[in-house]
Amino acid sequence: MTVRPMQYLPANILLTKAIQVKPRDLTGRSFQRLIDDMVESMYWYHGVGIAANQIGSRYRLCIIQLPEDQEPRVLINPRITRRAGEREVTEGCLSLPGHRGNIIRSERVWATALDRHGAPLNFDGVDGLLAQALEHETDHLDGIAYIDHLRSPDDLFEVERQPDGPEGDNWHRSDSTED
Ligand code: NI
Repeated sequence: MTVRPMQYLPANILLTKAIQVKPRDLTGRSFQRLIDDMVESMYWYHGVGIAANQIGSRYRLCIIQLPEDQEPRVLINPRITRRAGEREVTEGCLSLPGHRGNIIRSERVWATALDRHGAPLNFDGVDGLLAQALEHETDHLDGIAYIDHLRSPDDLFEVERQPDGPEGDNWHRSDSTED
């Protein structure tokens, strides 16, 4: 597994809609390697999630691993099918280090995706950090960053930037809210 270079805003690939993964892509070694590299990169940059375009791939897939998750969740072609309610959250992004923003996200989210072998995954009205991560990562794959949801520039603020890799906080298990 290889850590791939992070793409930082306003890199063009972060502003571009991802390409739907086809069934035959799943059987390719390079595609399975991309998934493993995304997991390794998410750990290296201390994220709770990562979208493929953040490490330079056009494919529509993302990884989410919440602090309480034992394993990374691989989500291929994730799609949000329904949202309910609103709440204010503080959010960060690996592609915009040293910043946080207060934005509105949904209370609950319904989503579909495939796992790395093509089996269907359903998220049925999930809430909390999982709902937030699903919205954040599917946004990335639609070329949207959390700063696009800021209601005012005052809602974006600077925080201390943690180093990447083992020198950073929470090496290999992040409790940060960066995706
Ligand atoms: Ni992000």
